[in-house]
Order: sequence, then structure tokens, then C-alpha cells
Amino acid sequence: MEQLLNKIEVYKNEINAFSVSDTTTVEEFRIKWLGTKGIVKEIMGEMKNVAPDKKKEAGQLLNEFKQFVEGKYDELKGSADNGQQSTANTIDLSLPGDPLPLGSRHPVVLMRNRIVSIFQRLGFAVAEGPEIEDDWHNFGALNLPEHHPARDMQDTFYVQQNPDWVLRTHTSSVQIREMEKGKLPIRMLMPGRVYRNETVSARSHCFFHQVEGLYIDENVSFADLKQTLYFFVKEMYGKDVKVRFRPSYFPFTEPSAEMDVTCFICGGSGCNICKKTGWVEILGCGMVHPNVLSNCGIDPNKYTGFAFGMGIERPAMLKYGVNDLRLFSENDVRFLKQFTSAI
Ligand code: DAH
Repeated sequence: MEQLLNKIEVYKNEINAFSVSDTTTVEEFRIKWLGTKGIVKEIMGEMKNVAPDKKKEAGQLLNEFKQFVEGKYDELKGSADNGQQSTANTIDLSLPGDPLPLGSRHPVVLMRNRIVSIFQRLGFAVAEGPEIEDDWHNFGALNLPEHHPARDMQDTFYVQQNPDWVLRTHTSSVQIREMEKGKLPIRMLMPGRVYRNETVSARSHCFFHQVEGLYIDENVSFADLKQTLYFFVKEMYGKDVKVRFRPSYFPFTEPSAEMDVTCFICGGSGCNICKKTGWVEILGCGMVHPNVLSNCGIDPNKYTGFAFGMGIERPAMLKYGVNDLRLFSENDVRFLKQFTSAI
């Protein structure tokens, strides 16, 4: 009994002296004293060595000791929780935060959005189509039957698994998909990526982007096409820019034309960009060929329409002064983060 009293005394001193530090935690206290192999359990076990007439007294002593340890544990736990709270209170919420790096839009996307938003004001909706196309949508339906020499104008990537599949060489394929739906009238803009088997250089790439336009209704004329494109050029390049149409050939339009604008670098006086001509070609266009309409189940005697197609990279290069087409697809953040503002 004497021995037990001494032991309890020593333990109490040790417990009173305990404080939480960098190396000891409240949890360590719990394990050491109150754990399943802890000291309280162990000392309780000493009851069996106590003489029967002292058992009652010893039991009381041990219970008191146990309550003492539990009290200390609660106290330690409470102050640890408070400690955590007080650090939370010391955070100064008025300090400026660490800035998160903001992404920026790709210059090709900026240019595409600009083109799209101009035509949206004329009531054109946006449509997209697949980049892996079948021969019919990329060529056949566009009045380019097999062995047509104009197929050579576009160096096509064929898909090995299926000889009928190609990587679309132009967004004109989406025209066909829209017309096939059979919902008329159609006033659509079709932006997207296209592929051609060209050597990659500063001026050409094996993939680039186009925007296709299509308007089909009753009584659509070449005058509508011209007015639509005049509006676009004014909005895009300013009201002083002049426009000219040159007769051209595309199998899917008749008549066909290419549209030039006065060079927006030199203003028409002649520079390297316009090869000293004062003009820059920006798109191909024309009245949708009656064969194309019939191929899509549209009656060419009732409906007419116009179409146009333009590249996105070239105007973006001119707008931003980018002199190498490859920069657009290298994903160098130092290049990309220069285009944060809307154009
Ligand atoms: N698809 C042509 C190209 O990639 C561009 C084009 C020309 C589209 C005339 C048209 C068009 O819709 O009418 O070169």
C-alpha cells in the first residue's frame, strides 16, 4: 500500500510537469497514460497485490488517480484546440492574395472569335463538323468527283485504316453536313481546323484553321454575297479599306471569285507582305453550284445560295505581326501569353 502511494505521488509530479512542446503532443500523453498499454491501466492491475483489508482504500486512491489523469488530458486537449483557433485568428484576410497565373486566349482563337462575332451580327449561327471526314463530304458532294483534277489542289492526308476517310482539307465539308440536314434557310458560319500534306515552314503548315460561310434561301444573289462581305471587311479592317473581286474557279461554286483587300500593312502602296501589289487575298467565295445543292437534296430551281471560305492564321499573323506560322502550334507560353487582350 505504501509502495502504491509513493508510485502515485511520483506519477502525479510527472504529470503536473508535463507540457505540450514541439516534440511531445497531447496524443502522446494520452497513449502513455491512458492508452490500452498505458500507465493507468498498469497501476490498476496492482490491486491484486493489495492486502484484502486495504483493497477499498486502494481502490479509491486508484480511481482518484485515474480521474486526475483524465482531467489533465482534457485540460491539455482544450488548450491545444484553443491554440489552433488562435492561429486562425491571426490570419490577416485583408492582405493581398498570391496571384494565380491567368491563362490567355490563343491568337488564332481571338481572330476566329472576331470573325464569328461580325457574322453573328448578320444573323449567322455557328456550326462544327468532324475533322476526319469521308470522301463524299470533303470532295464528292462538293462537285469534286473521283479523279477530278481539282483534288490535286489540296494535298490530302488519307487515313490508313479506311481508304474512304481523309483529314478534311477544308471546312467546306461542314457546308454539306448542314445542307444535308434539310432545314432551310441556312445562314451558318463554320470555323475549324483543316489538314494538308504540306512541308512545315514559316509560311505553310500541315494544319491550319478556316472559317466557312454559307447562306441558302430563295432568291439569294451574288449582290447579297458582295454586301455581306463588304460589311465584314469594314468591320474587320476599317471603313477605308478597299475591296476587289477577281474571277476564280472552285468546283463547288459557280460563278466563283477571290476577294482581295487593300494591304492593311502598307495601305495599298506596296510592301513585302502584299508582294508590292497593294492587295492581299483574304478569301474564296461564289454562288453554291447547283450540283452541290442537288447532292444535298436541295432543289436548285427553288433555292440559291452563296458560300465563302477564309483562312484564320494569315489575318492573325498580319494583325499581330507574327512572322512564323509555326509559332502558333508550338505552345510556347512566352509566345502565347502575349495575347491577353481582346482584339
Ligand atoms: N474551300 C476553299 C479552300 O479551302 C475555300 C472556299 C472557296 C470556300 C470558295 C468556299 C468557297 O465556300 O465558296 O481553299
